[in-house]
Amino acid sequence: MGTLIEDQLPPKTISSDHLVKAFSKRINTIWSDHLVKVFPKRINRRKSRGYIEIVIKKVRSFLLYKDCEFVLPSMILKDCDTTSSFQTQFWETHNVNLLHIESRPSKREATYEFMVECESTAENFRKASEDIKKTSSYFQIISRNYRENKNAVPWFPGKIKDLDRFANQILSYGSELDADHPGFTDPVYRERRKYFADIAYNYKHGQPIPRIEYTDIEVKTWGTVFKNLTKLYKTHACEEHNRVFPLLVENCGYREDNIPQLQDVSEFLRDCTGFQLRPVAGLLSSRDFLAGLAFRVFHSTQYIRHPSKPLYTPEPDICHELLGHVPLFCDPKFAQFSQEIGLASLGAPDDYIEKLATCYWFTIEFGLCRQNGELKAFGAGLLSSIGELEYCLSDKPEVREFEPEKTCLQKYPITEFQPVYYVADSFEEAKRKLIQFASTIPRQFAVRYNPYTQSTEILDSRPQIHNLVNDITNEMQVLQDALLKL
Ligand SMILES: [Fe+2]
Repeated sequence: MGTLIEDQLPPKTISSDHLVKAFSKRINTIWSDHLVKVFPKRINRRKSRGYIEIVIKKVRSFLLYKDCEFVLPSMILKDCDTTSSFQTQFWETHNVNLLHIESRPSKREATYEFMVECESTAENFRKASEDIKKTSSYFQIISRNYRENKNAVPWFPGKIKDLDRFANQILSYGSELDADHPGFTDPVYRERRKYFADIAYNYKHGQPIPRIEYTDIEVKTWGTVFKNLTKLYKTHACEEHNRVFPLLVENCGYREDNIPQLQDVSEFLRDCTGFQLRPVAGLLSSRDFLAGLAFRVFHSTQYIRHPSKPLYTPEPDICHELLGHVPLFCDPKFAQFSQEIGLASLGAPDDYIEKLATCYWFTIEFGLCRQNGELKAFGAGLLSSIGELEYCLSDKPEVREFEPEKTCLQKYPITEFQPVYYVADSFEEAKRKLIQFASTIPRQFAVRYNPYTQSTEILDSRPQIHNLVNDITNEMQVLQDALLKL
């Protein structure tokens, strides 16, 4: 056993790097109130032949995660004295490589909870998890490989920083253009798209979004879109959009001759509703994209459409994000509605992800609402398309009431105007219907977002529900006080 360096601040999380460092310095690594001591003996970072003995004291709780190629387990151990066998069970007996451990106070029991990230073969993991389950009072596998493991919940981010984990798991890189893309044969445009994709690819949560010096051609393209759309907003956009637009002009540089910077817009959004923007390098899966909304994070493109066709884009671009999405995310009720779609998606089965993505499509992208007896547009796909903004309020398309259980089954084209739109009486009403729909999603737990810790909580135990009741009671007290003072 080495010597503890007392003046060294314990890391909040322990990673394989910490373990390697601990080993090389022959010291114990202590974190989370001296909870876990690492007794490094021998380690090989690349091959899991070496081992580290981990002694865990006063611990009864573990959460096991399995993530992508790794396994990220989380569990609660019943008897702390037996946890010294943790390493033996995971590392030696079953040859499971321990990559990362995080500890935090358990919300299920008066003890600690551990999230453990491992890598191994499926068979080794299965055997190890069977062993560990015997000594756990709570055990949950959260995995990207959930289709191969019937006991696993589809992976979803636990905290806002976890969005970094899937930021680069994109279905196509932003610089890869289809043959029919207006910029396909333009090497300068393709180079520019690569520049934007690389910025997003290297972005990490918490960093300021890099500022862009847009070229004159890009600003001109933006100007054409801006000028044509702003003529239509007064008559075609919902009142929430029209109310906030002047503030974006005033605070974020929304002008015909200026493309606003994502960072400035993100800061403004955060002040309004807590929503924030995050640059994205390409197309995310529906599951990952919706998960961002649960954290009030919107994945945004930063590039602009090709200058040869300023009024057309086959994919979202900065005009779509800033003119279509951002004004609505500044509205508290719309923000809440959007977050509810995100929360409903966490850990949901694949078929429900598709249903929620369809609800997203017919509301946040192409939604209509009824205001003062008239139809108005609130979907970003409409508010960023001159042609479709006029078309959607004409008598050509069919308009139906937004009913999530029916809307979620509607097929839709992605490269032409929508033949059917859905209308909501209000965002509040749409949210109420969506929450009701979300309650039909087959999940073994409810999910709550904790804004203080910017994390999602799986609600599946009495103490957690008891705490939630206490929180709501406190809020009710504030409400009562406020009412009495009116
Ligand atoms: Fe969009």
